[in-house]
Amino acid sequence: MKFIFCSFFCLRALVLSATPISDQLDLRIPVVDMRDFYDENKREAFLDTLYDAMSTVGFFAVRHTGVDANVIQRAYHQAEVFFKKDVEEKKLSFVPELHGQRGFVPGEAAKGKAQKDRKEFYHVARSNAYPKNIWPCQEGFEEALTDLYNELEQYSIPLLQAIVSTINQRSPSPLDLDFFNHMTKNGASLIRVIYYPALKPEEMDINQPLHWAASHTDIDLLAILPYATAKGLQVEINGQWLNVVVPEDAFIVNVGDMLENMSNGLFVSARHRVVAQEPDQDRFSMVLFVHPYDKAPLDPLDACIELTGGRQMYAPGTREEFLWERLLELDIGPALLEPYSKTGHAERQALYHRESPQVVNLLIQHGLASPELLQALDTKDGRLVSRGGKSHVSEVKAYDQEHKENNPVSLMEHRRELFLDSGREGETHNPSDY
Ligand SMILES: [Fe+2]
Repeated sequence: MKFIFCSFFCLRALVLSATPISDQLDLRIPVVDMRDFYDENKREAFLDTLYDAMSTVGFFAVRHTGVDANVIQRAYHQAEVFFKKDVEEKKLSFVPELHGQRGFVPGEAAKGKAQKDRKEFYHVARSNAYPKNIWPCQEGFEEALTDLYNELEQYSIPLLQAIVSTINQRSPSPLDLDFFNHMTKNGASLIRVIYYPALKPEEMDINQPLHWAASHTDIDLLAILPYATAKGLQVEINGQWLNVVVPEDAFIVNVGDMLENMSNGLFVSARHRVVAQEPDQDRFSMVLFVHPYDKAPLDPLDACIELTGGRQMYAPGTREEFLWERLLELDIGPALLEPYSKTGHAERQALYHRESPQVVNLLIQHGLASPELLQALDTKDGRLVSRGGKSHVSEVKAYDQEHKENNPVSLMEHRRELFLDSGREGETHNPSDY
């Protein structure tokens, strides 16, 4: 395996070994210690690392989150018992009418992918959310997953405060420390417990690795992941897929599309996937997708517009509008097309050149594209065909250029060369992902 070991701020790379599956590289994402957020002497460095991580790779690892390790262990135990059951028994917790919002889900395909991922999962929301949670006939499952939800949601509070602090550290227009927490307090956050069944040796193909989860970005503010039971998470940086490697006790956190939108592209929702690395090895992981309430405005924040050059580059819209757009892209909410067409979201997205080609095509096919949308698209220039998806590169470049004079090494160079954690003495780094 080619293993790149770099200091976060010193660009030095050493080739150490070779991967069993392909010529992929390992990436040590930046690591922060949550205790440093509360330490006057270490707080500034903590926030700097967080800011750099979110504005470049979009992923970071966190140690000492305060989440009870026993709660995680119990949840994993319950997950393993559940997913090893016969599929017919698991389907007793599957309610097709809920479109995967709660309970067992036998599988899904990522945006733009015809083939379903090789995974099963179970969704759990807050106990008073609607629709209500679905619980299997399995002793201890409800308690373990409810405890996990509560622990991870509790941890999201200081984490979101830290993210506000990274913005406030640099902006003359400071936000309320609990700005994001006000949006998520009664929000639509969701835990996904995922089972990736082991692949047989004959299914392991170096040239065409099977994807447990195809490449995608997350449609949320943040995703918080306690350690997974096997490696497999990869992040795309400059077109290259890199294995994410973190300390074995660390959580992984990644920026989602909603935070990218609110931060005007300052923070990056990075494309990632999960690929089986070894045959005959199951994989379990758990993630809290942190979501605001439905009508929460995800408009780019003034502070972030200032920090990205003063020009708004992302569209205003609510959590519900962005979610509907994604559900339509995934073809799991066709009934939403008409109500979505009346929100004006597609028109706003098009004005900022961020419309979804799939959704626009659906609107046109069903005669629901407004004159304003068609005008904004100006389809004669072939813009939809040529773009086909969003890109963060121009925004990052603009930010990088603006800050180059103050940075000894530019952020784009960090991104290009793979920036890694500081590799503290005696610290072991094991693969941990979802
Ligand atoms: Fe994801």
